[in-house]
Amino acid sequence: MTRTMSVPGGGSEARKRTTFDLVAMKARGEKIVAITAYDALFASLVDAAGVDLILVGDSLASVLCGEETTLSATVEQMTYHGRIVTRGASRAFVVVDMPFLSYQVSRAEAVRNAGNILKRTGAGAVKLEGGFEVVDAVRAIVRAGIPVMGHLGFTPQSVHALGGHRIQGKDEEAAARLVEEAIALEEAGVFSIVLELMPTAAARRVTEAVSVPTVGIGAGPDCDGQVLVLHDMLGLNEGFSARFLKRYAELGKATREAVARYAEEVRAGSYPADEHGYESSGDAG
Ligand code: KIV
Repeated sequence: MTRTMSVPGGGSEARKRTTFDLVAMKARGEKIVAITAYDALFASLVDAAGVDLILVGDSLASVLCGEETTLSATVEQMTYHGRIVTRGASRAFVVVDMPFLSYQVSRAEAVRNAGNILKRTGAGAVKLEGGFEVVDAVRAIVRAGIPVMGHLGFTPQSVHALGGHRIQGKDEEAAARLVEEAIALEEAGVFSIVLELMPTAAARRVTEAVSVPTVGIGAGPDCDGQVLVLHDMLGLNEGFSARFLKRYAELGKATREAVARYAEEVRAGSYPADEHGYESSGDAG
């Protein structure tokens, strides 16, 4: 039996988003809608729902693989998931996270890893975390013709150095530093910056200070766009909760209930029923 994915309203007719479109959206005051995906099926669903940007986040290490942090993600993993996400995304712009240690060691390694991720996935850009310390790597990757998204505030790959999941930019000095880092990233060539876990006022200051769009997660409503981890907002990753997180569905509960019903019916002999057999039609569909 051949299985193909069909998504009602799948937006294959619409033009693929570009970095230019995302920057222009900020100029027009239009909010950017971003969400994570790790595979072709979910990518096709969120693409059909009309998101502007799909992030293949290294959060897959915790969300899919059960790790406590994102530190274990590898270039191979990000490449594999990036490749299958681009198969499902016909309209949204796809960004792949560069995993921990793939861009910090040297500029040459950063460019090689970013280039290989782009070559092997078909994605449009890479994202890397950090401020002043990654500006040289960002500049080198951008010079190689690879679009880069920055990531400031709480940067999960530095969770141990930051002392846990803590809100960043809380005092004047820290907020001013975030603004300076965002400006430095913009000068290095990023087309957008994720702002994670920071007070609304700090995110607003950063957003006003740069001409590239900011995309917030736990950074309040004044960013140029928002991003959420798909499995969190669908209620699939039930172990994760945060004040900023809104659950738009309860698919974890729905999955448990559906599978429990299936198990009950198999054990009772009520599934498959007559209508699930092939006595007369001979057609597997
Ligand atoms: O890895 C990820 O999913 C991310 C988002 C939380 C922005 O970086």
